[in-house]
Amino acid sequence: MKDTFQRNINYLRISVTDRCNLRCVYCMPEQGVDLACHEDILRLEEIARVVHSAVLAGIRKVRFTGGEPLVRKNIVDLVAMVNDIPEIDDIALTTNGILLPEMAGRLRKAGLTRVNISLDTLSPEKFSRVTRGGLLSKAWLGVESAREAGFNPVKINTVAIRGFNDDEILDFVDLTRKVPLHIRFIELMPIGAGEEAARSQYISTPELLKTISRKVKLVPEKEVAGSGPARYYRIPGAPGTVGFISPISNHFCDSCNRLRLTSEGLLRPCLHSPTEIDLKTPLRNGASEIEIASIIKLAINSKPERHDMSNTGWQGNRRIMNQIGG
Ligand code: GTP
Ligand code: 5AD
Ligand code: SF4
Repeated sequence: MKDTFQRNINYLRISVTDRCNLRCVYCMPEQGVDLACHEDILRLEEIARVVHSAVLAGIRKVRFTGGEPLVRKNIVDLVAMVNDIPEIDDIALTTNGILLPEMAGRLRKAGLTRVNISLDTLSPEKFSRVTRGGLLSKAWLGVESAREAGFNPVKINTVAIRGFNDDEILDFVDLTRKVPLHIRFIELMPIGAGEEAARSQYISTPELLKTISRKVKLVPEKEVAGSGPARYYRIPGAPGTVGFISPISNHFCDSCNRLRLTSEGLLRPCLHSPTEIDLKTPLRNGASEIEIASIIKLAINSKPERHDMSNTGWQGNRRIMNQIGG
């Protein structure tokens, strides 16, 4: 359905857990976070009920996020439940890839259409640093297993971080010459953990494009299958593409198409706005599919026009990224 700014909202991002098997420095604080307890997290059946109702509010695409969605027990069953809803035509998942080798085949069979894998560096030492202990070899096996399982496109999310991976930008671009991967550079947002660092380590998309175009010719590419705000380019003849997600330098709020559901059953009309609408209480009090749909419509109608995070930062927002799902 259309929101009050005439944007078509058809994409629901569902955070299925706030837990994660990594601790990325820009996402989670070192000392860890207060995690939601089991009873506070929506059950898989409750999430499926939300999707049934969301369809009545015009949702057609679903993406599972976390924390890390693959640490949620029985996530494959949830994918299958959502796949049984005929109106939903795209079921995607954003993951750090660590658990994909053991799960990619089952997820695909259950009806998952696409995966986006977060990978910020190609250096094992730096990977361990940014994820506070993760193994690059495991994440890379995840990327390979996604391709082997037949997911297409497989996208890589790379947050551009000054002083960390700015010397690897061309290496990532080069990967697209060899393999049909879609590398997307994301501008670092001042969200949650490391808000201060995010300001000094931010690299804009125009700066990245300049760095790349000194060495490589990129031509604009039509959209790669998906529902997100990335703009794509390709090295002529290359099997993969290079995309840019630019929430700061060129915020894409005027074409925003999404609504978020936190793992605790709160609808978040905007990634950046602290406004949340409780869906769990009505779900647990026996609200009907239509009643839930009307709350979802209310959330769509309360979407703000745009974020203002360059000016306001993350103040007033009590959540951090692992609780919202990016
Ligand atoms: P596709 O459907 O494959 O295009 O996926 P997507 O880009 O919508 O999903 P993904 O989870 O891979 O998102 C990539 C990153 O884009 C997120 O991790 C965020 O950093 C950023 N992002 C996604 N949605 C929003 C949004 O609504 N606002 C802002 N500011 N950033 C967003
Ligand atoms: N800025 C930009 N992207 C972020 N992500 C997490 N935190 C931030 C941030 N502060 C990205 C991750 C992952 C996705 C879920 O969100 O790298 O790709
Ligand atoms: Fe986990 Fe993703 Fe956050 Fe890293 S960015 S700690 S992989 S949820």
